[in-house]
Amino acid sequence: MPTSPPKPKILVIDDDDDLRYSLKRVFSGKHYTVVEADSGEEGLKVAEAEKPDVILLDNRMKGMSGIEALQHLRGINPNSMIILMTAYGTTQTTIEAMKFGAFDYIMKPFDLKKILSITEAALAASDDLVRASQDVKGEGISQEDVDGGIIGSSAAMQDVFKMIGQVAASEATVMITGESGTGKELIARSIFQNSLRSNKPYIAVNCAAIPENLIESELFGHEKGSFTGASNQRIGKFELCDGGTIFLDEIGDMALTTQTKILRALQEGEIQRVGSSVTIKVNVRMLAATNKPLEEMVGEKTFREDLYYRLNVVRIQLPPLRKRMEDVPLLVDFASSGFRKTGKLILTPFLLR
Ligand SMILES: Nc1ncnc2c1ncn2[C@@H]1O[C@H](COP(=O)(O)OP(=O)(O)OP(=O)(O)O)[C@@H](O)[C@H]1O
Ligand SMILES: [Mg+2]
Repeated sequence: MPTSPPKPKILVIDDDDDLRYSLKRVFSGKHYTVVEADSGEEGLKVAEAEKPDVILLDNRMKGMSGIEALQHLRGINPNSMIILMTAYGTTQTTIEAMKFGAFDYIMKPFDLKKILSITEAALAASDDLVRASQDVKGEGISQEDVDGGIIGSSAAMQDVFKMIGQVAASEATVMITGESGTGKELIARSIFQNSLRSNKPYIAVNCAAIPENLIESELFGHEKGSFTGASNQRIGKFELCDGGTIFLDEIGDMALTTQTKILRALQEGEIQRVGSSVTIKVNVRMLAATNKPLEEMVGEKTFREDLYYRLNVVRIQLPPLRKRMEDVPLLVDFASSGFRKTGKLILTPFLLR
């Protein structure tokens, strides 16, 4: 008699009995085997005994939280695909979930079709998944000191948070693009805070705000007497930032000659102070942002193509608020809570567009 393939096994960890019951009904009806646990602690035991293919994990539970359970579960059964479910969507939870190796993140309430399709995607991915996230230990970062302060519960912003979680711990250069006021600076800071370099320096440089003749000295430093006004030696941002992260904001405004030097710093990890022929080794992770159309600039040869490819290793494109109107109430809330605290209503650009 032919044997049918084994049914995929799902573990549902949630303290909400009703939700466990509905998930069990849906998945059992679709040829899945379902096992359950009503707490994180219990979930770890069941995961060890049952070796589920997919784990649907609630975040807010009495006792161990989903994020905590997630970290243990990855050790107990690295091959299980974990989907975090939570009613309390915060930026940081999404970032943490992805960083600790969750396959995906779903916000409650969700419709059952959605959770079925995510689960199917998780099963499909489990066959050929390369677990880059296994290198991520999440050392040195505690939940309290990392709050990106980025607001957004729209699907588009959730995708951005997922990307932050996925790239933060790598050494990849990230290019953040989006219209003015979409929060590019906040994203850069959040990547840094969630990275393995979070206890090293972070320096943000606004390339548009520094006059062209001073930017190289600002970035790479200079020797005494190297140009009129250089009365002392100066250490540049790249040297100061050694071991850390440098955020080149408004990179689209950088002159071509400076771009060449940035390229060298990226490719060779080398810089020279202005007026010096000595090469200095630097180890700096670069993040960059711009609201300029870089691709067009490459076409017009006002932005170096080779630098573009070096910087654009990971691209985070921020959606403008008009494409994620769901976030408006949250942002209004955020602005008015600032008003209650300070008596000042600060109208940041995102509220005006
Ligand atoms: N999603 C968000 N949550 C909270 N604050 C936000 C969000 N998006 C933007 N802001 C706030 O709006 C303001 C403008 O954002 P920011 O300066 O980062 O924009 P930008 O993308 O760098 O724009 P530009 O291209 O003009 O430099 C800041 O005060 C920032 O904190
Ligand atoms: Mg900016």
